[in-house]
Amino acid sequence: MGSGESQTPAHTVDLADPATFANHDLTGFWQQLRDEEPIHWNPPTAGRRGFWVVSRYADILDVYRDDVTFTSERGNVLVTLLAGGDAGAGRMLAVTDGPRHAELRKLLLRALGPRVLAPVCAAVRTNTRQMIREAVTKGECDFASDIASRIPMMTISNLLGVPDADRAFLLSLTKTALSADDESISETESAMARNEILLYFQDLMEFRRDHPGEDVVSMLVNSSIDGAPLSDDDIVLNCYSLIIGGDETSRLTMIDSVNTLAAHPQQWRRLKDGQCEIDKAVDEVLRWASPSMHFGRVAARDTILHGVRIRADDIVTLWHASGNRDERVFHRPEVFDLGRTPNRHLSFGHGPHYCIGSYLAKVEISELLIALRDLTSGFETTGEPQRIRSNLLTGFATMPVRFVPDRAGLARDALDG
Ligand code: HEM
Repeated sequence: MGSGESQTPAHTVDLADPATFANHDLTGFWQQLRDEEPIHWNPPTAGRRGFWVVSRYADILDVYRDDVTFTSERGNVLVTLLAGGDAGAGRMLAVTDGPRHAELRKLLLRALGPRVLAPVCAAVRTNTRQMIREAVTKGECDFASDIASRIPMMTISNLLGVPDADRAFLLSLTKTALSADDESISETESAMARNEILLYFQDLMEFRRDHPGEDVVSMLVNSSIDGAPLSDDDIVLNCYSLIIGGDETSRLTMIDSVNTLAAHPQQWRRLKDGQCEIDKAVDEVLRWASPSMHFGRVAARDTILHGVRIRADDIVTLWHASGNRDERVFHRPEVFDLGRTPNRHLSFGHGPHYCIGSYLAKVEISELLIALRDLTSGFETTGEPQRIRSNLLTGFATMPVRFVPDRAGLARDALDG
């Protein structure tokens, strides 16, 4: 289905099927839903339950804001929602609601405060510049595997205080556990790797009890809610959730930013010539990539959404992929504009579960844009990038890129470094 073929009947598109996103441009489909059927029913398919699809920006906000009517405790992405729940419910931040969520979030926000983040952000800058400098000097690289896949895990490892000696091991586990793009990895291998990550954090937690540092694990070990220390499970699961939350989304956004800038030379020129603010550019890159296409909730009681009756237990999915292109909110949403203002995109969600890693993610993306601006005169993709296969995340698993070095910029950087 091409973007021009907006008449494709909505009921023929199954949003639970990852193939839907691998093979189709859904621009026309989303436009049709926003205009004609903003609360759409995706019927049951292949033994899976049916679910509601919310496509307009304003309706997405309404659901995100109301965590009493729309709970996250029965899953927050299609995979868990359709499976009937999430094993971390009530313990892992993203799938916990109410007062427990508020307390846990307060703790994690403190653990992600300026004291912990300052050295982490400094390391993001140094590592990103180093990697871009190497790639630009060499002339080409696979941006996905050589650069974008390394930055987020390095960042989260710094945040969690993972010792240097363990990093390669942890990176290989997370690749097996979480990678949506490697079809050679079976579900059993992924499940085993996820288990090993939990065991790894169990060990790290025990180590930090005796050797505390300025990292998130040490802070969680010494935290309590209502006078009761966090349980081992609470600590381990929430460390794990920082990896899940922070790895692929940031990686996919960085890869998408390179692809998009290569395809929009005028916008690249604006960035290169310092004609746009980096913060605004980062937000537009996030809106454009919309790396998590949806999140979701379960209705805890009967309710009405945009005039449609939603029954208790119904699954309600919220599509950033559509809300971030809603022409009711964004002026010419189909235009990639690094200076876009205002730009209240939905890529980090909204309301009580708004992404807790948004600051860190923005630091990662801005350091990438700054390093590209300073060290290369331009770049192009040199082959067909390979798309990931998922109904949750969107983006590329490979991105061959050729760089033109900015000799003066590289020389300045060598002097500064
Ligand atoms: C929550 C997106 C980076 C950790 C969320 C949510 C979204 C999101 C949409 C809301 C989920 C919901 O409402 O159910 C993104 C994107 C990122 C990113 C697009 C990068 C471009 C990060 C990073 C971390 C992180 C770097 C960790 C350091 C989390 C956690 C939550 C969350 C723990 C749950 C918050 C809560 O339930 O209160 N993220 N995220 N994310 N994110 Fe991120």
